[in-house]
Amino acid sequence: MIKNEELEAILQTIDLRDDAPTDEPMRQYYFIKQARELVSAERAKLGRPLTADGETFGCQMNAKDSEKLIGILENIGFEMIDDESADLVFYNTCTVRDNANQRVYGRLGFVNQMKKKNPHKKIALCGCMMQEPSVIEKIQKSYKFVDLIFGTHNIYKFAELIVSMYNSNEMIIDIWEDTNKIVEDLPAERKYSFKSGVNIMYGCNNFCSYCIVPYVRGRERSRNPRDIIQEIEKLVTEGVVEVMLLGQNVNSYGKTLEEPMSFAQLLQEVEKIEGLQRIRFMTSHPKDLSDDLIQVMKHSRKICRHLHLPLQAGSTRILEAMNRRYTKEQYLALAHKIRREIPDIALTTDIIVGFPGETAADVDETIEVVREVQYDNAFTFLYSKRTGTPAATMPNPTGEDEIKANFDRLLKVVQETARSRVGRLTGQVQSALVEECNEHDSTLVSGRLSNNTIVHFPGDSSLIGKIVNVRLVESHGFYYMGEQVPDNIV
Ligand code: SAH
Ligand code: SF4
Ligand code: F3S
Repeated sequence: MIKNEELEAILQTIDLRDDAPTDEPMRQYYFIKQARELVSAERAKLGRPLTADGETFGCQMNAKDSEKLIGILENIGFEMIDDESADLVFYNTCTVRDNANQRVYGRLGFVNQMKKKNPHKKIALCGCMMQEPSVIEKIQKSYKFVDLIFGTHNIYKFAELIVSMYNSNEMIIDIWEDTNKIVEDLPAERKYSFKSGVNIMYGCNNFCSYCIVPYVRGRERSRNPRDIIQEIEKLVTEGVVEVMLLGQNVNSYGKTLEEPMSFAQLLQEVEKIEGLQRIRFMTSHPKDLSDDLIQVMKHSRKICRHLHLPLQAGSTRILEAMNRRYTKEQYLALAHKIRREIPDIALTTDIIVGFPGETAADVDETIEVVREVQYDNAFTFLYSKRTGTPAATMPNPTGEDEIKANFDRLLKVVQETARSRVGRLTGQVQSALVEECNEHDSTLVSGRLSNNTIVHFPGDSSLIGKIVNVRLVESHGFYYMGEQVPDNIV
């Protein structure tokens, strides 16, 4: 991330009569300057500001990418609005399950109607779905009104792509198969003033047999620890108190660095940043979760008491077919060790039902694990076949009705255990980071506990971004109602 003054000083030195530089990020600074001129010319022509809207599908990684794209749009002069009637709309897509793809095609049909009424309107598509050649073919054939398509590896080029888009009447397509590049120091916007996601690595090398992410996000690469620390230090000076370190498998952080560093070591460095109050991270692969990490979490004052530890399946046979590289017993031993070392931790998980060959007996084993681990929350997904992954060619003799029945059985147990867990803090005083005013009742604000549970309590917008002490008065399923307690009483 670059400071505004620094960027402005660099832009002053750029002469657009020169050819664009080839080195990054200088090349992008050149195109930021050119895009600004373009946007201001359009603005003069229309007699009003140009508006833009970003629609994000998918995980926190995509949300973070969207903040970077919005940062560039704002920097070159677009006014961001939350409405697809904008002059430029980008869709940052997800392809982890087929329903994510279907939602995007639905939006495209809708936005095409709007484009017919506003010929200036530009439509851009980016994100994971665009890394699939079959998707690009479909868009070229049936969604010809799309102006720009780019992928997950070249979002840093957005200013350059916008310039190409405004200078062309053809659909611009720029997709890279993979990259080993990490371009730093571009402008970025933040959705919240007090918390922020921070990429620590990109891509994934695990190739779980059902998962498309390694194909659309490329090989695993870790960011340099100095860049990560500097980014967080800058965020803290801007008022951020909580960071979420992001990666598909944060536990393998650092393996690709010239001077290897473990995730546990990185956390210790982040902990030292003065003014930073809370640290979260996503996602942990059980196979790489080290004892060092557990010890660092145990002794940390800042790392939140929450661990998302995807199980995916409870049957060792299915785990093996999924290429998860742990057994049911290894997972259970790990969960017990974590609970023993950090008793107040909340554990959450992801589970897939309906993987090829999974039977009712396999799902019984998943249910057993859920009962034994006692998750605070579990996200359950129906298996979705992703073309190009090894699982897509595995036969599945289990019928749809049986899969649905297995899913419902699991969901019932997940909900029962979660409900019994969440109330366990009733009566305690805990710190909560206030995130927003309550949508339904304006006398309440909503905060998040260290263990990720939400608490609603009386307060006003002046509390947003502050960490306050709250007594958890009543438990309501997945959230608490509470009351603020002055600091000196705790
Ligand atoms: N890197 C993370 C998760 C990324 S995808 C991890 O390893 O945990 C988020 C979740 O989507 C996964 O945990 C998995 O439960 C689910 N998922 C991934 N591919 C899927 C598929 N083909 N069908 C259904 N669910 C899937
Ligand atoms: Fe997908 Fe597995 Fe990588 Fe997670 S670790 S992104 S589930 S391949
Ligand atoms: Fe979806 Fe891509 Fe994330 S496929 S889950 S947005 S990495």
